[in-house]
Amino acid sequence: MAQLWGGRFTGSINELAWNFNASITFDKRFLEVDVRGSKAHATMLAKQGIISEEEKNQILSGFDSILKDVLDGKLEITTKYEDIHSFLEANLIERIGDAGKKVHTGRSRNDQVALDMRLYARDELEHMSQQLLNTLGCLQKIMKDNLDTYMPGFTHLQKAQPVTLAHHVGAYFEMFKRDLLRIKDIYNRMNYCPLGAGALAGTTYPLDREFTAQLLDFYGPTLNSMDSVSDRDYLIEFMSALSTIMMHLSRFSEEVIIWNSNEYRFVTIDDAYSTGSSIMPQKKNPDIAELVRGKTGRVYGDLISLLTTMKGIPLAYNKDMQEDKEAFFDAIDNTSNCLALFTDMLATIQFNKDAMIKSAMMGFTNATDAADYLVNKGMPFRDAHSVIGRLVLHCIDKNCAIDDLMIDELKSFSELFDKDIYDAISLETCVNKRLTIGAPSPECMKKVVALNDEFINKYRIK
Ligand code: ARG
Repeated sequence: MAQLWGGRFTGSINELAWNFNASITFDKRFLEVDVRGSKAHATMLAKQGIISEEEKNQILSGFDSILKDVLDGKLEITTKYEDIHSFLEANLIERIGDAGKKVHTGRSRNDQVALDMRLYARDELEHMSQQLLNTLGCLQKIMKDNLDTYMPGFTHLQKAQPVTLAHHVGAYFEMFKRDLLRIKDIYNRMNYCPLGAGALAGTTYPLDREFTAQLLDFYGPTLNSMDSVSDRDYLIEFMSALSTIMMHLSRFSEEVIIWNSNEYRFVTIDDAYSTGSSIMPQKKNPDIAELVRGKTGRVYGDLISLLTTMKGIPLAYNKDMQEDKEAFFDAIDNTSNCLALFTDMLATIQFNKDAMIKSAMMGFTNATDAADYLVNKGMPFRDAHSVIGRLVLHCIDKNCAIDDLMIDELKSFSELFDKDIYDAISLETCVNKRLTIGAPSPECMKKVVALNDEFINKYRIK
């Protein structure tokens, strides 16, 4: 056990307690960000004359060599150390001697870990933005290819009105677009540097916190040292955004599962993203989509876990906060994996256009348009609704669609029906006449797709 805090103690710690307290098994992920933060701190200490230039140089190259050795597999991060901070400091002292003992001047592990978490989360925010952009690109391609791929739109999982595949996928484009904007918002709110907050009350050393913040690409230093070491809001916001991304992925997964079912056959999932059954030879299961749906609950759990951890702890740092890490790592790993896999699955999925169109033609998706036809001929809407309702009942009885009926039969429901009814309620008309922005007509969707391109380009060029 190589600990940072021996002086005040006469006895040694119980082994179970040591293991219980230690975080190295999971905070070793902070290796790179901890080195980045410590190097910035040492650079600032030297600028302020708190350590010498020579000491700073030793510290910087000491950290570089440790980092390299770990990455090259020459130095192992072991459970001999309590956490990544102790591991790095102990190894630094081992390598460069007395200068290494100065790196923690004017710093506490409380502001150090607060910094590490922010640097790590900030990198992940950037990574998540890129991933979302990639997903948006994939959706955009499907939209462009399917502006006139007709399919039924549903409410209550009952066929409602016809839409297009571009329009349906466009709904998800909007969701992931909001997800991206949320990630950008969180970044803007969280990008402040907590280093220099010390344990909770700042330090008496003349630190230049603005300088450290600048070195680490933060907008500036945080403004309250107690808040700096105990704020985990940005993680909660981030995990909330991740939960929302997962919720969107889960809804989409549910649709893919339904569309892939034997009854629908709207899509064929590529073999690369399907699995078989150990007993039923005919099976090709949408396991990836099901697992994405399943892991959504787990990411929600991570969010609730941290919210619950934070709800009762007084200012400032308390060890409970160490629990932020595993929850956050789990949430980010799973969301990132799910988003990547789902996007790849979608990029290779085959849309069975014939099945979609056939389905849109059945199930009276043009009933509203038939009622609107009568309205345009002068009938009040409520009466038209009732006429078409009776007509639908008649068709159900005859097992046919409204447009399968001959004109005389239609006229027996209302004299207002004329030959132009067939054109008025065709699948093409039902979709193509919906011309208000946001509606499914190819004409409208083209405008939306152009706006989507602008959106993607705006965020791609940083
Ligand atoms: N492993 C700790 C954490 O993750 C680092 C901070 C330790 N600070 C302390 N006062 N014990 O929160």
